[in-house]
Amino acid sequence: MSTQPSSNNRRLVLFPLPLQGHINPMLQLANILHTKGFKITIIHTQFNPPPNQSNYPQFTFISISDGFSISNKDSTLNLDTSNYAINFMNKSCIHPFKGCLASLLEEEPVACLISDSLWHFTQSVADALNLPRIVLRTSSMSCMLVYATLPLVGEKGYFKTTIQELPLMTKKDILKIYSGGFEEGKLELISSMIKEAKAASGIIYNTFKELEEPAFLAISQDFCIPSFPIGPFHKYFPASSSSLLEQDRSSISWLDLQPVNSVVYVSFGSIAQIDEAEFANMASGLASSKQRFLWVVRPGSVLGSKWLESLPKGFIDEVGERGCIVKWAPQQEVLAHQAIGGFWTHCGWNSTLESICEGVPMICSPCSYDQPINAKYVTDVWRIGVMVEKGMEIGRAIKRVIVEKEGDEMRQRCKSLQKKVNLSLEKDGSATQALENLVEYILSF
Ligand code: UDX
Repeated sequence: MSTQPSSNNRRLVLFPLPLQGHINPMLQLANILHTKGFKITIIHTQFNPPPNQSNYPQFTFISISDGFSISNKDSTLNLDTSNYAINFMNKSCIHPFKGCLASLLEEEPVACLISDSLWHFTQSVADALNLPRIVLRTSSMSCMLVYATLPLVGEKGYFKTTIQELPLMTKKDILKIYSGGFEEGKLELISSMIKEAKAASGIIYNTFKELEEPAFLAISQDFCIPSFPIGPFHKYFPASSSSLLEQDRSSISWLDLQPVNSVVYVSFGSIAQIDEAEFANMASGLASSKQRFLWVVRPGSVLGSKWLESLPKGFIDEVGERGCIVKWAPQQEVLAHQAIGGFWTHCGWNSTLESICEGVPMICSPCSYDQPINAKYVTDVWRIGVMVEKGMEIGRAIKRVIVEKEGDEMRQRCKSLQKKVNLSLEKDGSATQALENLVEYILSF
């Protein structure tokens, strides 16, 4: 794709959700659309503002008050607090966002608003201001389909029985989407997201058609608005400069010393949390696998610990030179490194896509939300990974992927998906075509 901006000169207003897994794709999308000649304004909350804004002189950033940052100085969220924060800000941001957008519209025409699908309140604001809204869905199309079916599943009481509408998903998977419960407004958040996405003018997906062809066809029928699978976004622009945490580059120099395909990379993304027992279990799995590992332990990700205090005694001495632990890594560079043989992941959508794009097979430990769905596709549909459930022998799962023939076969299948990604981004590829369609669509407003 050309990186030279063409000049259509229309302005777009983008509004990212203030979580790492959502800021990265929105800023990448902003860059992609800027190369297509659009002028970009990014409205953001005071809470978790996009970092390193000076790296983006081509964009205008505007901060709005969110009522959340005042009482929550800590920028790190976990699965439960992030759900609370999103629900809270979907109410507290209505007036500041509407005021900000209205004054922008007084200054200059805006072609459309592009907001994260979880900012469901923005649909009625856009309607009130007579502005088209396009949704950015940062997860997969398959997840969107499952989410669209969940309210129905809940209504029919299918949680007690089998789930006819979702043959791939077990009752256990569905309960995991809600972290085991329906409290804290999770169902309400998902339902509002779906309802307001269907009311939008279109949906942009960070995925590519060949990866999710059946979901693409089903979505085209179920949602009466155009879908634009233009991803993977990070293949156009890497996410490093939108990282909220500092990336420890010593992980790359450590990888440089390791043999090809020998290291399992371990990371559970930016909001997943585990308890001390699970953490100890991970450590003993890594020790018993006898394989090399690069482990991202995000400070605060182990409940009740600041960082590594709850590692089993003797673990560091036992693993010695074959292990490297960091607080945060340059993940895309890590996955592209020849030493990486597998990725033990929570299956956040960005991580899943980043792994596919480098042909790296996965060991899946999904926590919540879209992750159980992504993990199911990795293991059962694309067959490029193994699932590890609580209480399972982790060392064995690691060996299956890193040293056994089965792992090689998964790697081969993953490499063939990697080839499909690259083809989709070529001049006549599906992602390139979807992007052209998106640009034309926006220019038609
Ligand atoms: C969340 C949800 O969990 C995820 O399922 C949803 O699709 C998006 O929002 P998160 O849990 O943070 O995101 O996971 P993921 O989607 O994988 O995003 C993490 C991002 O942080 C990736 O782009 C990854 O490259 C980056 N990262 C992660 C780093 O840069 N360094 C690290 O050490 C770990």
